[in-house]
Amino acid sequence: MRLAVIGAGGVGRAIGTAWRAAGHDVVFGVRDIDRRRDLPGVATIDQATAGAAAVLVAVPGAALANLLDTYAHSLDGHLLVDATNVIGGTTLHQLPLLLARVPRARIFRAFCTVGVEVMTEPVIDGARADLVFCGPDGPDRALVADLVTDVGLRPIHLGGLDAADLVDGVTRLWFALAFRQGLGRHHGIRVLADPGHPS
Ligand SMILES: NC(=O)c1ccc[n+]([C@@H]2O[C@H](COP(=O)([O-])OP(=O)(O)OC[C@H]3O[C@@H](n4cnc5c(N)ncnc54)[C@H](OP(=O)(O)O)[C@@H]3O)[C@@H](O)[C@H]2O)c1
Repeated sequence: MRLAVIGAGGVGRAIGTAWRAAGHDVVFGVRDIDRRRDLPGVATIDQATAGAAAVLVAVPGAALANLLDTYAHSLDGHLLVDATNVIGGTTLHQLPLLLARVPRARIFRAFCTVGVEVMTEPVIDGARADLVFCGPDGPDRALVADLVTDVGLRPIHLGGLDAADLVDGVTRLWFALAFRQGLGRHHGIRVLADPGHPS
């Protein structure tokens, strides 16, 4: 499957590399190709999104508005997987901004609740960590769940975009456990349930 990753930092590289290892055709969309020549499959953001089945947005939260100023036309209409967080913000997500600027995009919040260390090494103490996400029901939800599985994490759907604050809460829990409770960045959360629960 053709996938675009916007932002070739820690999160973009971790997820893009895992998706590629899972067999996907991953194109990294960056603002300056020359600075990212070390990375295979780099292209402009417009080139990366063209024809992509899903687009991961992995830029700093503070840069999202700037990204949209220049590339809203390129992101709109796509299945957008938004991993961005505004660290220290009232909300970690910026859904009102996204909904206003890319109104035809099918938006999901995913890969925003755990550190990149968990995305790179999702099995912790013998168990696969969970990755909660939210976004509308339907085929896109199943695709996003598959893309979470392809990274090696277990997808847990928390609801539609009205669950974005709940997803934020899980991110805040991860931060609290990592830094206030001393678990460090390589810790994950696992929901225990009878087998066969819907993801
Ligand atoms: N790090 C984590 O553990 C973690 C976990 C979950 C979620 N997140 C969230 O995921 C996002 C990415 O985090 P990260 O750690 O991967 O950040 P990062 O390492 O700083 O990488 C950010 C990337 O975004 C690009 N970028 C910055 N401003 C841009 C703009 N205006 N237009 C296009 N591209 C731009 C940068 O490109 P240049 O190289 O050209 O500057 C860089 O490749 C953040 O919102 C963060 O809060 C992070």
